[in-house]
Amino acid sequence: MSKEPVIEVCDLIKNFTLGDRQVNVLKGINLQIFSGEYIILFGPSGSGKTTLLNMISGLDKPTSGKIIIRGEDMSKATSNDLAENRSTKIGMVFQDFNLIQAMTAIENVAMPMIFKDINLKRRLKRAKELLCEMGLEDRIYHRPVEMSGGEQQRVSIARSLINNPYIMLIDEPTGNLDGKSANDIMKIITDLNKKSKHTIVLVTHNPNYLGLADRVIAMQDGQISNEMRNSQNEDN
Ligand SMILES: Nc1ncnc2c1ncn2[C@@H]1O[C@H](COP(=O)(O)OP(=O)(O)O)[C@@H](O)[C@H]1O
Ligand SMILES: [Mg+2]
Repeated sequence: MSKEPVIEVCDLIKNFTLGDRQVNVLKGINLQIFSGEYIILFGPSGSGKTTLLNMISGLDKPTSGKIIIRGEDMSKATSNDLAENRSTKIGMVFQDFNLIQAMTAIENVAMPMIFKDINLKRRLKRAKELLCEMGLEDRIYHRPVEMSGGEQQRVSIARSLINNPYIMLIDEPTGNLDGKSANDIMKIITDLNKKSKHTIVLVTHNPNYLGLADRVIAMQDGQISNEMRNSQNEDN
């Protein structure tokens, strides 16, 4: 693991305005995440986990504080830079898959490549390879409605990998899945970290998964309340 953090969160505060009320959702988060780490963000519903992921991905802006990604201060980035980051450097996976219903699996997976200067044939070839890696070789031309939840989540993981991101942000990936599919998805995610060396930040409130991560960051009411290291999982 390298010594330079891939993601640095400094004194991060996020307030939302609800009517005439300010809600202080993140109350000063400090966090460093290193290359190749597998981090689980754990905490009760409403503790601010999704909000923190959205700040790291640049989907939403902090009220104050900084997010630094590979040495680059995201508060200085334009919204174009942030969108470019999300499409090429960060892979995202969501609880409800966020697939486009009118598109087949292969079209969904190839979608984030559309802004790259790569011809359609090569895009589809790469998308097909990823679907095969996810064990979906017989679902390539199926639409989301024709697939199980576990299959749809595997399509969404393939999509998140299409532009070779170095950070994966994964929010409650098994929240809509049965136990068997959930375990399959967690195995795929663990392999992305252990075999493909992706840096992963995964949100869950399922305590059964905590042993998979290198580090568990517990959140409570907008703050980091605890941190636990699973030293047996770390490479060095
Ligand atoms: N856009 C928003 N406007 C107002 N309040 C929000 C918004 N997004 C999240 N919140 C509030 O912030 C708190 C944390 O939400 P969230 O980050 O989704 O928590 P978690 O993912 O841990 O369940 C909740 O109280 C939620 O209602
Ligand atoms: Mg959430």
